[in-house]
Amino acid sequence: MIHYEWCFMKKKVLIIHGPNLNMLGIREPDKYGSVTLEEINLESISFGKKIGLNVDVFQSNHEGMIVEKIQAARGGYDALIINPAAYTHSSIAIRDAILLLDIPVVEIHLSNIFKRESFRQQSMISDVVSGQIAGFGRHGYILALQAIHNLVS
Ligand code: DQA
Repeated sequence: MIHYEWCFMKKKVLIIHGPNLNMLGIREPDKYGSVTLEEINLESISFGKKIGLNVDVFQSNHEGMIVEKIQAARGGYDALIINPAAYTHSSIAIRDAILLLDIPVVEIHLSNIFKRESFRQQSMISDVVSGQIAGFGRHGYILALQAIHNLVS
């Protein structure tokens, strides 16, 4: 009997959250809402399950740790969703790490960075990712997972 199990294997998605996103809920609720990172993570994992994606989450306040996590994602994940937070606007190291990947990458921001200060309107990664979602708060993560589902399923 032939086993087609591989067809049904869940695709693996990594979500990386950058600095200060661990403070969601407390941090500038006028801009980021009252949702906590844990709520976003639980929502993402459970929505992922519904659409056949296995979601892992990672948060760090350290640029090097984010770089290392992206490097380690090589070969182990089918897609990456990343909110580099403040590093969006400065990190060539994160950009270069993303360039190591040959999987779809979605850049996400809770706020619409284009409606904010001019220094936030530049992203070091937007031209090396598959697409960007910004301005939809916590719902952006659901949109990102739907986009990934379309790309990898
Ligand atoms: C952010 C926008 C960044 O400019 C900011 O530094 C963040 C969060 C967002 O999700 O809207 O920390 O990435």
